[in-house]
Amino acid sequence: MTGKPKFAVFASGSGSNFQAIHDAIEAGHLSGTITLVVTDKPDAFVVERARIAGIETLAIKPSSFSSKEVYEQEVLQNLKELEVEWIILAGYMRLVGNVLLEAYPNRIINIHPSLLPAFPGKDAIGQAMAHGVKVTGVTVHYVDAGMDTGPILAQAAVEVVDGDRKQTEKRIHALEHELYTRTLQKLWSR
Ligand code: GRF
Repeated sequence: MTGKPKFAVFASGSGSNFQAIHDAIEAGHLSGTITLVVTDKPDAFVVERARIAGIETLAIKPSSFSSKEVYEQEVLQNLKELEVEWIILAGYMRLVGNVLLEAYPNRIINIHPSLLPAFPGKDAIGQAMAHGVKVTGVTVHYVDAGMDTGPILAQAAVEVVDGDRKQTEKRIHALEHELYTRTLQKLWSR
């Protein structure tokens, strides 16, 4: 695919991956347009980052809707209005449901802070450290209905700093920021 894909970034937290993707576009390292930031946590710091970046945000709580389907229909309508082509999950802390999966087949990508299939789900870094692994890493993968189970696009390893979660996290996040943008660029220039 050549050209500039329009994509939405879904995030629930700090948004450092959103920032890295945005910065990569600004620096000319990634070809694409972030058309919308979607968050299920209106207080998340990613909202502030999007505001500074001048990117529209959709901040709605799933709990304000009668069901997950209805929530995702609302999200989908916004994506369609903006002609969003890809969904890029960056710390979006919920499982994507059928409404979005069916609307974006093979068009939803996630980043996870472990070498999948090891340590899926929440607190992958904590899980890795609790198991005493010496090497962990980062995975970029397509999203399917499972928890961090879709086909893998890219992986890279990180050495655990023994007993030091903060330093290990720092290494993982630095690698995430680099691997995510590099993988998207590769995917979209195929
Ligand atoms: C990242 O570690 C990502 O892999 C995971 O959630 C974290 C989000 O961090 N899915 P941030 O909000 O992008 O800083």
